[in-house]
Amino acid sequence: MNLKVFGYNGSNRGMNSIGEMYFKDVIKNLESYYSVKSILRDYKNTKIKVCDGCSACFDTLKFPCRDEMDSVRSELLDADIIFLISPVYVHSVSGSMKIFLDKIALWTHLMSLSGKFVVIVSVSASNGNQFVVDYLKSISEYLGMLSIQEVTITELSELSKSSLEKTVNSYAKDTARRIERLISSNDYRSLITSKHEEIFNQNKEVFASDAYKYFNKYEHEYWNEISKKYLTFDRFFAEKCKMLAEKL
Ligand SMILES: Cc1cc2nc3c(=O)[nH]c(=O)nc-3n(C[C@H](O)[C@H](O)[C@H](O)COP(=O)(O)O)c2cc1C
Repeated sequence: MNLKVFGYNGSNRGMNSIGEMYFKDVIKNLESYYSVKSILRDYKNTKIKVCDGCSACFDTLKFPCRDEMDSVRSELLDADIIFLISPVYVHSVSGSMKIFLDKIALWTHLMSLSGKFVVIVSVSASNGNQFVVDYLKSISEYLGMLSIQEVTITELSELSKSSLEKTVNSYAKDTARRIERLISSNDYRSLITSKHEEIFNQNKEVFASDAYKYFNKYEHEYWNEISKKYLTFDRFFAEKCKMLAEKL
């Protein structure tokens, strides 16, 4: 099968980024199982304008501000698996990662990336990874993605550059194996969390309610349609998952 993998790395260090090293290792490992089309974006190779807070995307369900995010959003919608990779900066995600997420904030209202899988990666010198992992996991749930793995890399727990590379390589191998196991077993259900169902139900309740119609008719219509078609997030995800559909 052809696997489409998209990665966004919140590091600006390019070839020197540990996150980038990990992503490239994962792709190399995945290529022993599948034909892989991969894209790795970061703030340096992608011209993203900082969100100006106009909120027009929420109001219209379209993205009126023109920048390279138009291409990035198409790549995200086309992907089977998405890697969200962030260095830990002051115990949080990096500014580059946050700028990227702000430009898809609308999709957190629509669960637009439902049907896709995510791998979450946080890289630090020594600490602060948990906040980054928890934050990216929560945003991924709002986007409708199922997390295959949350990877934590801490640079200073390694004694040398070569031992760091070995560790990164073994994490990458493990990630590729998990992806292969997921695809061969089709057992995506175990990755659905109670939070996914909670967000799905809450969206239906709030956005599809009559009162919300006057506040935002587009979101209202979107969730009204979904409410009619899908009782649970589980069904919504299964319908949208191209990767599983191709296998069945
Ligand atoms: C502005 C800045 C803030 C940072 N804050 C933290 C931090 O809070 N905790 C930590 O352990 N490392 C911190 N680091 C170190 C990076 O997380 C670490 O170098 C990581 O390897 C970067 O990922 P990369 O190699 O993919 O660029 C910081 C680095 C920078 C430049």
